Amino acid sequence: MTKIAMKTPIVEMDGDEMTRVLWAWVKDKLITPYVDLKTEYYDLGLKHRDDTDDQVTLDAAEANRRLGVGVKCATITPNQDRVKEYTLKQQWKSPNGTIRAALDGTVFRKPILVPNITPSVASWKKPIIVGRHAYGDVYKNAEIAVPGPGTGELVFTGADGTVKRVLIQEFKGPGILQGIHNTEQSIRSFAKSCFTYALDEKVDMWFATKDTISKIYDQTFKLLFEDEFAKGYREKFKAAGIEYFYTLIDDVVARVMKGEGGMLWACKNYDGDVMSDMVASAFGSLAMMTSVLVSPDGVFEYEAAHGTVQKHYYKHLKGEKTSSNSMALIFAWTGAMRKRGELDHLPALMAFADRLEKASLDTIAGGVMTGDLARLATPPAKQVVGSEEFLDAIAERLRG
Ligand SMILES: NC(=O)c1ccc[n+]([C@@H]2O[C@H](COP(=O)([O-])OP(=O)(O)OC[C@H]3O[C@@H](n4cnc5c(N)ncnc54)[C@H](O)[C@@H]3O)[C@@H](O)[C@H]2O)c1
Repeated sequence: MTKIAMKTPIVEMDGDEMTRVLWAWVKDKLITPYVDLKTEYYDLGLKHRDDTDDQVTLDAAEANRRLGVGVKCATITPNQDRVKEYTLKQQWKSPNGTIRAALDGTVFRKPILVPNITPSVASWKKPIIVGRHAYGDVYKNAEIAVPGPGTGELVFTGADGTVKRVLIQEFKGPGILQGIHNTEQSIRSFAKSCFTYALDEKVDMWFATKDTISKIYDQTFKLLFEDEFAKGYREKFKAAGIEYFYTLIDDVVARVMKGEGGMLWACKNYDGDVMSDMVASAFGSLAMMTSVLVSPDGVFEYEAAHGTVQKHYYKHLKGEKTSSNSMALIFAWTGAMRKRGELDHLPALMAFADRLEKASLDTIAGGVMTGDLARLATPPAKQVVGSEEFLDAIAERLRG
């Protein structure tokens, strides 16, 4: 059988622990038998990040920018325990944070739906993709514990020395004060990444703030989104048959809970923090959540939303059987292959991505699944399988 040819390599970022084990199996069992896989490989495993003083992460991000499409395995973000466990030179930064900063990107999380896992919200029939603005607001705040009576003010001193001053509160006793900010550049980048991804997925996009209350801060988000939409996306949305819908945050929450899903929900930083966890848990398992980093100029990096599944890895090292679910990792690879196929005009590669996704979904729909899903499935699983057996079951369907 001739394998499917590729043109441009996918940037492959290997990772840590159980997901590193699954990564190799996914490639060996499900991809390389069918695709003449071309990748530019970067080992983001913690040991190699330490050996290269984290230069490998920067190189991988640069390669992703240059080649346009990457796929990333889960990686350890070291804490003090990991510094000891791996005798690290220092507590390296989160690779995801480094790559996100290098690409100026936004992360979108999308659940994988299967018929035998029912979302907790009965009306949800299609995936809800959540995009979170990962800059500023309360996450980069300045706070003061007000000790007693006094004046709280907001002061801006321009580079030319001009001062703007606004009264926040005349305190009669103790209280609290908080200053937050955002930048026009970051909000515009966020808007562009969201519009780009909605077009890519061909889904409507919803965005909400509290602009009726926050007449400058939140209103600015609303106006900058409108401006970017009018400048670069209105016509493209029309041609794709999708809509951009703006409303208030409380209204959007009510609509999401009553709707059937099937949209991209663009969220301000705090809203995205809270809502992405609500949406993820209502759709079932973390192992069924994919994640895509999209830059404002259309660079894509695909990964699973979950971590390295550390506990399973320690069991695996002891030779014990594990039941790790590789669905999100498989969908990271299919996402990258489909995008590469689209950019390089390779319909066979895109069709293979569809076929691999279908084989994976059919395996679960047919009742064969890992332990995390078996706990949630109705009707109950026919066969609860281990990490490798699950991939073998998908491989068998692919062959069949
Ligand atoms: N994107 C990333 O690279 C990323 C994201 C989160 C955490 N991490 C890293 O992963 C490591 C472990 O972190 P954690 O335990 O908080 O998160 P985790 O996602 O690895 O695990 C959280 C829980 O979900 C379960 N789980 C997750 N994925 C699963 C899968 N595919 N199959 C079955 N069960 C699954 C785990 O068993 C565990 O109970 C940490 O070192 C952290 O830094 C990396």
